Parts: sequence; structure tokens; C-alpha cells
Amino acid sequence: MAQEDTFKKIVSHCKEYGFVFPSSDIYDGLAAVYDYGQNGVELKNNIKQYWWQSMVLLHENIVGIDSAIFMHPTIWKASGHVDAFNDPLIDNRDSKKRYRADVLIEDQLAKYDEKIEKEVAKAKKRFGESFDEALFRQTNPRVLEHAQERDALHARFEKALNDNDLAEIKQIILDEEIVCPISGTRNWTDVRQFNLMFKTEMGSTAEGASTIYLRPETAQGIFVNYLNVQKTGRMKVPFGIAQIGKAFRNEIVARQFIFRMREFEQMEMQFFVRPGTELDWFKKWKETRMAWHQALGFGAENYRFHDHEKLAHYANAASDVEFRMPFGFKEVEGIHSRTNFDLSQHEKYSGRSIKYFDPEANESYTPYVIETSIGVDRMFLSVMCHSYQEEQLEGGDTRVVLRLPAALAPVKLAVLPLVKKDGLPEKAREIMDDLKFHFNCKYEEKDTIGKRYRRMDAIGTPYCITVDHETLTDNCVTLRDRDTMEQQRVPVGQLRSLIEDKVSITSLLKKLQ
Ligand code: GAP
Repeated sequence: MAQEDTFKKIVSHCKEYGFVFPSSDIYDGLAAVYDYGQNGVELKNNIKQYWWQSMVLLHENIVGIDSAIFMHPTIWKASGHVDAFNDPLIDNRDSKKRYRADVLIEDQLAKYDEKIEKEVAKAKKRFGESFDEALFRQTNPRVLEHAQERDALHARFEKALNDNDLAEIKQIILDEEIVCPISGTRNWTDVRQFNLMFKTEMGSTAEGASTIYLRPETAQGIFVNYLNVQKTGRMKVPFGIAQIGKAFRNEIVARQFIFRMREFEQMEMQFFVRPGTELDWFKKWKETRMAWHQALGFGAENYRFHDHEKLAHYANAASDVEFRMPFGFKEVEGIHSRTNFDLSQHEKYSGRSIKYFDPEANESYTPYVIETSIGVDRMFLSVMCHSYQEEQLEGGDTRVVLRLPAALAPVKLAVLPLVKKDGLPEKAREIMDDLKFHFNCKYEEKDTIGKRYRRMDAIGTPYCITVDHETLTDNCVTLRDRDTMEQQRVPVGQLRSLIEDKVSITSLLKKLQ
């Protein structure tokens, strides 16, 4: 199945099974804003819990906070967001559609890559077993030509971005003959900068109201609380502050479902270190975060680092964790060595000293910061994309199964009486009433047992138990495993110990030790 089709199926599966709904659905939705349904919220909460516990429980020197979304407007001046949190936009005069100019060029770059991959796929088919892919990539004239075109475009684009040269960005779009996907024309406006922060007003009277912003990242809430936490928590550098919360960006083009949203959630951790040690910590946090991702068992080959060549002016190292989505490797998390830029700026703009006195070094300094920043929604999407599978079963049957890591699954156990009579529902309820205190259980008695299993597979429930007539006499149930579909007869009294460990977040956390 083409990757595009798979992605479409995942999006509709998310809606059909109560994971993600378009926001304001009965009003035809609101662009790039989504709501999480009854299963989505459980999965999302489990992802957040996995992250939070991996930070706060597993590190004695990391604590959490929950800062407000509204913040003093000067914070965004100090952080550079008012002046520089921009994306270059361009309009097509015929379709009246708006695009991110840099994304149009990135898509063009991807087209050269697609051409290369097509050549390779064709040759692979033609030469069969004897095909030497590496040699082909190094020597085939058409592949080399496309690679050369891509590299030249990449270099020109990078220079234009570095120089903040908007006229050159437009010229690249014209030279590359990039057309509007809607109108098919090249009738473009000039490129201009667009600030991504949402503004609103605080205050009850028009005269007294002041402009404030919806935070575009949660990190600044950590920076401005760094000294509060350090002092009240008696924290010693190195230490970290973790936070999960909403962030808002007026994205020019929001695409790919919950990949790029206007309201989203971040899980950020700022780790404060002694100047000069930041690159060692950067390396350590890259490894720690990659291990966190890989503990989910999606396969190391589906992750890669993308180290930034072009660094923001305040960073001295930056790398993204990318995951293989159906639409290619995409950023899920950013790890940044942000120097002391943010703290110094807040010191300057607030006029307050936020230096740290290091008792071991017997000196005061502004700590350097390593940041790990991951989008909850993007993480959610990567989990869904990897877990969604359509399977051909023996006897010609098919099933859609979400092979979610058990610790993240919304429902851990389905309790299913075989029939709705003969005392089976009562027995099933009795089992459920005992187990519901330990993990999320769902009781279902409607439809055939086969249909109920399929519904549970579709929401990724790792275990189902069936209560049948024999249960009433032997106090055993049939335990079915989602992935293998194998069934075993187990005593009711053993259910908790058989399941609890496998579905707990602790089982994931233990892999990180
Ligand atoms: N404080 C650093 C920061 O915000 P970022 O690279 O802009 O860095 C970090 O964002 C992460 O937040 C990204 O890796 C991504 O997972 C998520 N993210 C950013 N913009 C997003 C959007 N519009 N929709 C969904 N997630 C987004």
C-alpha cells in the first residue's frame, strides 16, 4: 500500500475509534486544531506520564513545574520571539492560497530525492538479485545529475536563509518553476516575514488593556522560574526543570494532521549546567532521549539524529530526533544547547540578577542550558503510525490492529462475558470490579465475541478475557493476547499479576535504567 494511503487510513482510524477528532467538528472543523477523544486522551496521558516519570522519577536532580500560559509580554521581547519568531510567507495571486516559502523550496528539494529513489527502484527491478545499490548510487549519470541539482539548490537556499534574503527566496521559487498546487500558476507575491505568535489583550477597558501573547513554547516559563525553583528546591547545578503544557503557533501552513498544529502540547526540560560543560551534557542528553524513544520497541532503524549545521544565534549545538513517519523521516524532538542566552536576556530585560552561586567552584555565573523539547502530539502521531497494521489472517479474514506498546495502550484489559445471560455478565463484572483499581479495564457484552475482539484490536487493547460457562465452576477465564491472538486458560486470581507488570509505565521505565 502506498504510504500516502496508509496515512489517510491512520487519520480516519483516529476519528473512527475515538482517538482524534477535528476541533469544532459539527462546524466543519477549525484548521490545524484537533480534539482528543476517549481513547486518544488515554494514549496521550500515557505518553505524558512516560515522559514525566522518566524525567522526574528517574533523575533526582530534575523537578517539574506548571507555569501559566499568559506571561509578561516583555518575556517575549527578551527571548527574541517578538522580533524573530517568523516564517517567510508567500501568496499565490490566483488561488489566493498562502504558503511558507521555505516549505515550498523544501518540497522541491524532496522532489529531487524522489527522482533519485525512482531511478534506484527501477534499476533494482531490472537487475534483480545482482543489483549493487551503493555502486548504482555512486555512478549512475541520472542519479548523479539529480543529486547535483539538489545540492546546488540546497546550498543556494541555505545561503538565502542565512542572509535572511527574502528576494532571493522568491527568486529561487521562480527559477525552480515552483507552481501553486491549487491554481497551477507561478503568479507569486513577494516573500514577507510573518510572526507566528498569537496576540490577545489582557484587561477590562480598552485603554487599560495590554497586548499579551499565547506562549509559543513552554520553555520561557521554565527560564523565568529557574531561580525560584533553584532557591526553594535548594537545587545544585547541574539540575533540570521539566514542564508539560500547551503552546500556540499561528502556523502559516498546517499540514499532515496533528504533525503541525496551531494549538499543541510540548514536554520540555531545561537542564542548567556549569559553563564549559554544556557540550558534554548535550551529548549525554542526546543519548538519554534516544534511549527513551527506542525503549518503545519501534526499531532503531526508524530513528535518526539530524544535527543542525545552521545554528540559531543563541545555540552552540542542536540536533533533532527524527522518526520515520509514512511521509518520511520527520522531527519529533529537538535537543538544543542554548548557552546562557535566555537567562542572560531575562537578566537584562528584568533588571534582576539571576546568577547562581556555585559553592563548589566558589563563583557566581549564569548557567548554560541544555534543552530537550518534544511535541506530545507529534509523539502521539509517531506512535499511531508505527502501531497501525492491517493483517491478513488465516482463512482469508483481515484485521486492523494497533500494536501499541502495552504501557501506552488506552485500555489494558477488556472483560467480555461470552453471552449476556446465565450469570456470565455478573461474574465478568465481579472480575472487572476487582481489576479496575489496578489498570484501565473495559467491559463489553454487545455483539459476538469475534467482533468484540476486533474492536479491541482496533484500539490496541493488549489483553482480552472471556468469561464463559466453565468460569462459573473452575474460576478460570480465557486470556487472549492482542499480538499473537493466542489464548490460554488462566485462574482469575492470577490475572492481576500476569497483566499488571506488562502494562505499567514502570515496565518501560525499567528499560531506561
Ligand atoms: N523550546 C524549543 C522549541 O520549542 P521547537 O523545535 O520549535 O523548539 C519543539 O519545538 C518540538 O515541539 C518539535 O520537535 C515538535 O515536536 C513540537 N512542535 C513544534 N511546533 C509544532 C506544531 N506546530 N505542531 C505540533 N508540534 C509542534
